[in-house]
Amino acid sequence: MVVQIPFNRPCLSGRELEYMGAAVMNGHSSAKGPFTADAQELLRDRLGAKDVLLTTSCTDALEMSAMLIDLEPGDVVIVPSFTFSSTATAFARQGAKLRFCDIRVPDLGLDPDHVEASMDDRVKAIVTVHYAGVASDVKRLRSIADRYGVPLIEDNAHGLFAKHNGEQLGTFGRMSTLSFHETKNFICGEGGALVLNEERDIDQAHILLDKGTNRKQFLEGQIDKYTWQGHGSSFGISDLLAAFLLAQLERAPQIMKKRRRVHANYQAMLVPHAQRLGLTLPFHHPGDTHADHMFYVLLPTAGMRSEVISSMRKQGVNPTFHYVPLHSAPGASVLADRYQDCPVTDDISARLLRLPMFNDIKLDEQEQVVESLCASVKAHSAVAG
Ligand SMILES: Cc1ncc(COP(=O)(O)O)c(C=O)c1O
Repeated sequence: MVVQIPFNRPCLSGRELEYMGAAVMNGHSSAKGPFTADAQELLRDRLGAKDVLLTTSCTDALEMSAMLIDLEPGDVVIVPSFTFSSTATAFARQGAKLRFCDIRVPDLGLDPDHVEASMDDRVKAIVTVHYAGVASDVKRLRSIADRYGVPLIEDNAHGLFAKHNGEQLGTFGRMSTLSFHETKNFICGEGGALVLNEERDIDQAHILLDKGTNRKQFLEGQIDKYTWQGHGSSFGISDLLAAFLLAQLERAPQIMKKRRRVHANYQAMLVPHAQRLGLTLPFHHPGDTHADHMFYVLLPTAGMRSEVISSMRKQGVNPTFHYVPLHSAPGASVLADRYQDCPVTDDISARLLRLPMFNDIKLDEQEQVVESLCASVKAHSAVAG
């Protein structure tokens, strides 16, 4: 029987169930409980952020960031076309129109030249994604944002604890967002965080998370009852999930070490075949600390991808494609401010193939993945040739 290798297998790191049991027993399973406080403190300290608020997802953290920058009808927000829909919808929900910009090779981050050419006085924010946890050109993007007096927001769903030029990803923008969805490096099923890098956003962010109330000041004893202040929602994570997450975050060095090993194994196994098969392997900025969030290859042609995927699946290996370009998706015809060509996004998203990647994947499973990838690419190159 062929051994099935899933695309993702969520992995426990040790104390998740113990902490969740404690969260059940201590009677505070709603938002802003003790495990949430500990996880937020750990993240705040590690990132050197002004504040961190755990949310129910990265999508929710993005929605909070869109609410914090006071968008008005007619405002435009720049987002990459090569990203998940949440990066765009969060800002569109606040009434902004989206202007999609292209990515660049080799880092697959937002292309600062395209952003520069797309700026005008209607643009009120730039949102960048660090694809696969590899830094986009945050320094140049921040300097463009500063020049136009608009915030840079980092959708750092993939890059927790990665460092670029010695600085943590997620600390370059006015704020950044994290995902703890079950496919990410650190997980709790569904979860996220809003990372605040400026004091001025702290009070309003807590009001948004506390359903529009100043409950934070009440809990801190500054007022004797809390009242409704304005916009907000139920963005806070349950303490049961925060308990699971804390167990993962406490083991961050071990989890990162495992992912580094898995990534390095794939790299070493594929280097001898890449040139012959026309595969491009993932890019890393030399000297950066990487999140090793995913391992992808760029196939030589877009045409072969679905054949390669189905052939690998027949061999028990489950790879997957990733983002479908947003600038040409049906949503863009409603929510984009204007059409902008994104040829690099079109090319990369059609050729990108993600290999199974999870903390506890075994060496022989990785060998099986690489064998099936090489055989499938070879077979379909021969057919195409
Ligand atoms: C770049 C990016 N941003 C946001 C999200 C949404 O994350 P979540 O599922 O935590 O809402 C994803 C999902 O994978 C993503 O890839």
